[in-house]
Amino acid sequence: MSDAFNLIVDGKPVAATAGETVLQAARRAGIEIPTLCTDERLAPAGACRACLVEVNGQRRLQPSCAWQAAPGQEIKTHASSPRVKRHQDTLVSMYMADHKLDGEGLPAETPNGNDLRAWALKCETLALPRVEAPRVARPNDVNPYIKYSPELCILCGRCTRYCDEVEGVNAITLTNRGSRTTIGTAGMRGLLETSCELCGGCVDTCPTGAMIEKKAPALNRAAVNKVRTTCNYCGVGCQMDLNVEGGRLVKVTSPEPGTTHNDGNLCIKGRFAYDFVHHKERLTRPLVRGADGKLHEASWEHALKAAAEGLLAVKKRHGAANIGFISSSRCTGEENFLMGKLARAVFGINNVHQCAAT
Ligand code: SF4
Ligand code: SF4
Ligand code: FES
Repeated sequence: MSDAFNLIVDGKPVAATAGETVLQAARRAGIEIPTLCTDERLAPAGACRACLVEVNGQRRLQPSCAWQAAPGQEIKTHASSPRVKRHQDTLVSMYMADHKLDGEGLPAETPNGNDLRAWALKCETLALPRVEAPRVARPNDVNPYIKYSPELCILCGRCTRYCDEVEGVNAITLTNRGSRTTIGTAGMRGLLETSCELCGGCVDTCPTGAMIEKKAPALNRAAVNKVRTTCNYCGVGCQMDLNVEGGRLVKVTSPEPGTTHNDGNLCIKGRFAYDFVHHKERLTRPLVRGADGKLHEASWEHALKAAAEGLLAVKKRHGAANIGFISSSRCTGEENFLMGKLARAVFGINNVHQCAAT
């Protein structure tokens, strides 16, 4: 039995399946509904109220990110409902009243973008009185990677929910009450003194740039070219985007959740440990030991020939059974497969190992 049905959004039929939210069905149909607190990896929280829509028969506006789609249900977004439009203009203005603004009075741009800014540009904002929020950060948090700026935080809770629901770590939490609510840790300690694994998932999910990477504080996002690659820190094969500016790697980000098998997640090494790429001591050319006992730069042809001759000489002197090949989980699956081939097909031995096998 099919569980597909139609609901009506802004007067048009929209396909949905049982268990989907109104937001999911509407997005698939190309209908724009603003969101701030939603992330497909997290359970709906209905925290930010950006996605409210009119639902036929409901007195109050409802959060489309948490509201289950139902057959024949009639939904109105800001495109057809003046009430929803008025709600959005008021809500974005209230967010802006205690948010860091730029010289033009818009939510400040950050190295990670700012979804509140993008949304405000589409709204007719109201001139509400400015309120300076008394939210605090952790001034002595000396962790090397993650910076929290409370003046950019909208308390959507994506970072804390990610830390709980995806990482299972619970290092950060919404703490204090009322306008003093902020993102805290146990005893407001620095992240290095908590259970934080420095995965950077909180940075990745933050919609406003309130959490950013300390190492990339002033990224020129327009100049960045993203290059998709496979992380080489372990054999899982997470996909990552190298952010390249002027020929230099300036940051690593994860692809959109739902598009690759790592679902927008990376670990501390994949996300932050990229300094080695431009390290001056990094080996970028093969080295071959010469007759003088010292290592000398060589071409790949020369290096491969020297390795082949060396291996064949050992085989001739001691027999293939005395050769062993050790590969690495930092190589790709294809490279490890080739190492197995080299051992078994070329030298006829099974002496091949890789650190992930232990
Ligand atoms: S870096 Fe990861 S573990 Fe640490 S607070 Fe952020 S989400 Fe939690
Ligand atoms: S730091 Fe970012 S993700 Fe966390 S609550 Fe604030 S705005 Fe939301
Ligand atoms: S996106 Fe629905 S309430 Fe935040």
